[in-house]
Amino acid sequence: MPGEVKDPSLAEEGWRRIEWARRRMPVLAKIRERFVQEQPLEGICIGMVLHVEAKTAVLVETLVAAGASIAITGCNPLTTQDAVAAALYTLDQVNVYAWRGETTEEYYTNINRVLSHKPSVLVDDGADAIVFAHTRCSEVFENLVGATEETTTGVRRLCAMEREGRLRIPVIDVNDARTKTLFDNRYGTGQSVIDGILRATNVLLAGKTVVVAGYGWCGRGIARRLAGMGARVIVCEVDPVKALEAYMDGFQVMPMRKAAKIGDLFITATGVRDVIRREHFEQMKDGAILANAGHFNVEISISDLEALTVETREVRSCVQEFRLVNGRRLYLLGEGRLVNLVCGDGHPIEVMDMSFANQALSVEYLWRNRGRLEPRVYPVPKEIDEYVARMKLQAFGVEIDELTDEQRAYISDWQMGT
Ligand SMILES: NC(=O)c1ccc[n+]([C@@H]2O[C@H](COP(=O)([O-])OP(=O)(O)OC[C@H]3O[C@@H](n4cnc5c(N)ncnc54)[C@H](O)[C@@H]3O)[C@@H](O)[C@H]2O)c1
Repeated sequence: MPGEVKDPSLAEEGWRRIEWARRRMPVLAKIRERFVQEQPLEGICIGMVLHVEAKTAVLVETLVAAGASIAITGCNPLTTQDAVAAALYTLDQVNVYAWRGETTEEYYTNINRVLSHKPSVLVDDGADAIVFAHTRCSEVFENLVGATEETTTGVRRLCAMEREGRLRIPVIDVNDARTKTLFDNRYGTGQSVIDGILRATNVLLAGKTVVVAGYGWCGRGIARRLAGMGARVIVCEVDPVKALEAYMDGFQVMPMRKAAKIGDLFITATGVRDVIRREHFEQMKDGAILANAGHFNVEISISDLEALTVETREVRSCVQEFRLVNGRRLYLLGEGRLVNLVCGDGHPIEVMDMSFANQALSVEYLWRNRGRLEPRVYPVPKEIDEYVARMKLQAFGVEIDELTDEQRAYISDWQMGT
């Protein structure tokens, strides 16, 4: 039986969402065409631990078209779209174990269920599945030839495992492909985080003071788009170079202890825990809104917030009110989890076309090169990254120049200036 979902009768709605996404993912469509011909993943199982929503379903279809069977669960207990899970549940080649609102125990049980299919390749987002395999499910290494990782936080964890000599498989760092980070983390998060916040709250951004913690790939995208909508943006950073960049990009830069007093809306995008904590909540204005864009729900310290709270209630879907001992009310969106996925549909389809094209081609690369790669974190091969960019340009109908032979010779000649 193909797994467990909340409500199989939602399948039709799920297929409509998938169709909407599929039509806007031309790079994956191109890859799928080749996969159907070549069947590069014939007969193997791919384990997937990703946000179970429409774009992910198109990646699932692409891997199925390559001949693989799929075992899939969510990479976050709150981000599964039940209709999409129900649609995947109708496919013979797919085992889906996912529903919105999993308990922590169910979340890990479902990861275990995916691993029990003994996948040959794992596609992970945040590295929970890879870490689980290493610490609690070593049988999986009988079949597993490698994994791919989708996000910054996951890559950080895997690099730490590699440094400590704990990593047992090669992992492709999809996050840092240029056709991923430059678009997904920056434009994707920039747009979808704002979309999630607006859907949850229905507030006006123009004129609001918005504090963005972290001016990395995601933070930059969020800050720029907020500014474009008329918000006054304050950036908090710990890296002096990024802080300087934010300053020269025209944003106010200050520590959170100062920003806490003046912000109307706070957004964390750091990948680090306790970025907003007790001392900051105590300073915040009545009505301040808190949202997180980072991978785990640790950036806004919910335990500190609860410790200061006398009463809590849900005031809108995805919006929790915390009435503090000082009488002020703070509003937490999406339980402090990825606001763009919990309160919205996640990244725009067009950017996930590129991220998931990198995923599909990296899975193929791992399988074709099985036995030849060391247990370490590898970048996405340059040819894959550039192929994805070229296909995307083609889909947009954009042509570019090419170096002439003379130009190529010129830039590789050390005497070029003489
Ligand atoms: N919401 C999404 O859909 C989505 C998409 C991509 C990445 N992510 C996640 O978002 C997080 C950030 O990813 P990224 O690619 O921007 O990483 P990044 O490393 O490019 O940026 C993080 C920034 O946060 C800064 N920072 C660290 N600690 C801080 C602190 N205490 N206060 C202020 N700034 C601090 C760092 O100096 C860095 O500039 C990660 O957890 C990543 O997995 C989420």
